[in-house]
Amino acid sequence: MKKSGQKIARVDEKPVLELRGISKSFGQMNVVDDVSLDVWPGEFVSLLGPSGCGKTTTLRMIAGFIAPDEGRVILGGKDITEVPSYRRDVGMLFQSYALFPHMTVRGNVGFGPRMRRETSSVIADKVRWALSLVKLEGYEDRRPNELSGGQQQRVAIARVLAGGASMLLLDEAFSNLDAKLRGRMQEEVRELQLRLGIATVLVTHDQEEALAMSDRIVIMNGGKVEQIGTPKRVYSSPSSLFVADFMGRCNRIEGTLHHDDRAKAWYLDCGPSGKIKLETIPHPAAREGEQCQVFARPEHLSLTQSAKDHEGDGLRGRIERLVYLGSRSVAYVTLEGDVPFQVQLPNKPGLSDEFSVDGPVVVVPLPGAVTPLPK
Ligand SMILES: Nc1ncnc2c1ncn2[C@@H]1O[C@H](COP(=O)(O)OP(=O)(O)O)[C@@H](O)[C@H]1O
Ligand SMILES: [Mg+2]
Repeated sequence: MKKSGQKIARVDEKPVLELRGISKSFGQMNVVDDVSLDVWPGEFVSLLGPSGCGKTTTLRMIAGFIAPDEGRVILGGKDITEVPSYRRDVGMLFQSYALFPHMTVRGNVGFGPRMRRETSSVIADKVRWALSLVKLEGYEDRRPNELSGGQQQRVAIARVLAGGASMLLLDEAFSNLDAKLRGRMQEEVRELQLRLGIATVLVTHDQEEALAMSDRIVIMNGGKVEQIGTPKRVYSSPSSLFVADFMGRCNRIEGTLHHDDRAKAWYLDCGPSGKIKLETIPHPAAREGEQCQVFARPEHLSLTQSAKDHEGDGLRGRIERLVYLGSRSVAYVTLEGDVPFQVQLPNKPGLSDEFSVDGPVVVVPLPGAVTPLPK
């Protein structure tokens, strides 16, 4: 597999789901382009990317609503590429929950087993089991419009569980909830998912949602996978400028590599603004004088005032603007050489305002803050 991400499989474990180079075009447009992914038992994976990048189409190919033009979909070791959606053991949870409004909770949750003509006692057992998992015992006779949004979502999950799904698919499942409820539902679904140990794929365009809920994140752009990794990994070691930018605010600066033999360290010489120390070798074949670009997040930088004759590690500049945001402030700095940089300053209690607009400053990266970006 081309991009298997960071998850290391136990020898006795097999992926629940394998996407092997799946592609899909609509007309002239390659909407999904050679996407490969393994999802492991109990894993929560998010497909994250901007609107239109092919997330939903990928999910619909897993669910079987759309057939890939190329590639295979493997579920539990079996090739299900040609298997129709209603015969796949995957449970899709739609944004609107798609509950049947005229049916009770019991009717909704028992829908799958009923369609498969299971006996009424088996159906009743499955409904009881699924409702106990989502903690909705006692709600059997309610209709969807007599439930809160959160409860409706839990009924939808119970329906998927009672249907015997071996994995759960969620498409922007929290997007239409207000901020507070969204946070609570995300927590609740994650807690439930962990408790059940059910492998889950979530489609979302919301970085924070993906970071908060996932074991691994698949970042997509223009139908392609940009990077697969743990939330920490994709945030702190993005493999492209697109990922760095999409995952949060990021400062970028170019320079030439310089190896200081005495200090046994690599530096990035950024011209007029100064130089910054690189914690690690930018890439195995790095050489003196090579052009390189790095990125650093605003919250991984610090500011000092001693800009005059600054000779050490750091970038000289001037504060253009200071924005107070309560828990933190953001300093908009223009480095010498006209490079814009943002630095986040934590607002600690009792601290007086240390910096002022137009003041000369030095931006000093915190240890591990500077990450080389591939060209
Ligand atoms: N059935 C379809 N026919 C034609 N174009 C489609 C169809 N479904 C999706 N698309 C297009 O494919 C692109 C990706 O869509 P989608 O997978 O829904 O993106 P996302 O979920 O990442 O926002 C969009 O440009 C969309 O308009
Ligand atoms: Mg979508």
